Amino acid sequence: MKKQNRIIKPAKALSGTISIPGDKSVSHRSIMLSGLANTSVTINNFLHAQDCLSTVACMKAMGVNVEIVAGSQQLKVTGNGLFGLQEPTDILDAGNSGTTLRLLSGILAAQPFFSVMTGDASLRKRPMGRVITPLSQMGARIAGRESARYAPLAIMPPNGSLQGIDYIMPVASAQIKSAIMLAALFANSPSRITEPYPSRDHSECMLESFGVPVARSGNTVIVNPVKELNAPTVLDVPGDISSAAFWLVAATIIPGSEITLTGVGINPTRTGILDVLAEMGADIAVKNQRWSGKEPIADITVRSSDLKGVTLDVEIIPRLIDEIPVLAVAALFARGKTVIRGAEELRVKETDRLAAVAAELGKLGAQLEETPDGLVIEGPQKLNFAQCHSHDDHRMAMAAAVAGLASQGVEIIEPDCVAISYPDFYTVLEALRMHSR
Ligand code: S3P
Repeated sequence: MKKQNRIIKPAKALSGTISIPGDKSVSHRSIMLSGLANTSVTINNFLHAQDCLSTVACMKAMGVNVEIVAGSQQLKVTGNGLFGLQEPTDILDAGNSGTTLRLLSGILAAQPFFSVMTGDASLRKRPMGRVITPLSQMGARIAGRESARYAPLAIMPPNGSLQGIDYIMPVASAQIKSAIMLAALFANSPSRITEPYPSRDHSECMLESFGVPVARSGNTVIVNPVKELNAPTVLDVPGDISSAAFWLVAATIIPGSEITLTGVGINPTRTGILDVLAEMGADIAVKNQRWSGKEPIADITVRSSDLKGVTLDVEIIPRLIDEIPVLAVAALFARGKTVIRGAEELRVKETDRLAAVAAELGKLGAQLEETPDGLVIEGPQKLNFAQCHSHDDHRMAMAAAVAGLASQGVEIIEPDCVAISYPDFYTVLEALRMHSR
């Protein structure tokens, strides 16, 4: 069946108040840990998007009971305890989700059964050696394509139990850190994991919610093995700041706009986008700060404003890694030069996002310089209507939509990939436009 393209027309202005759907990273972790508990957990504001549903399907395939409460964003999860997963009778499919594949590798590496995990064409091209190397040092037995560098992965039971590890990570990655932390729960001695720069700490927060103390010092976390998890009865998932980012940029660059985003997660390991937009001159007010479990949330009001270019260096990249495609759009509307450096990790995301941003925004007439580890963008620039390919990458599709909305419109090829992280994206976009003055 031929897939439909989607045309996004330019917007005069955007306005309205919207609640932001559940955080993808936190949703994955909530179901994984709930599935390892021995009491029922109700998860509120779970992200019912394809990536998280891949994790749900994998956990169900290992005997975890998951009830999706109809008409709500709630899940009720009942696991069989830390040692209660069952051998899956078929291949586990992580779909497009790197978080599912990498974090579950950590859990599966410790199980006394055999499992195989795979994913879609994009995920099977993404590097897995980065998790297999440390897990193997802990005693895991994992085989994979091209000398265990790519999925499908076959995971054999370890000989005896896993050993704790003292691991210095070569890249700042919450997925690698979390895979090791999850394996560490099952090891026979403590594990110490050090990153070059701090990445998102949702696994640390979620483990604490499940009664597992995580010692943190600088860029190092220490996880001790546990006998069981002490699950909360209710878990609240904050709104995803990575989804909010599209509206933060759109309202900033479309004159006359004002949007309020409610319940947005403002965990400091994720708020690089707020810091950078503020430095660029954006008009963003963070109000009503409160807690959603161990995660801070707030309501954010953004009004349009003029922007200026900025330089982003390697330390901040992990705090806004998923927001760079839409930040590149913001940079096109900013006066002066924006330089993004130290972001070579973008080359191994759902697609090579540095190449894709340069190519697709280039089709709209933008001039961007792609460097080995980033982008250089001189603004402001005028964009034209054109077709842009999403590369079947959700964040590329949404970034292209924002670019078109703020200029002469855009026709997105393969637009439906937004279902990976933000199924209602286009509906929300039209609702914000309908409220336009
Ligand atoms: C994620 C971590 C990041 C991010 C991804 C989700 C997570 O990846 O890009 O969308 O849930 O831990 P890396 O850890 O590979 O940087």
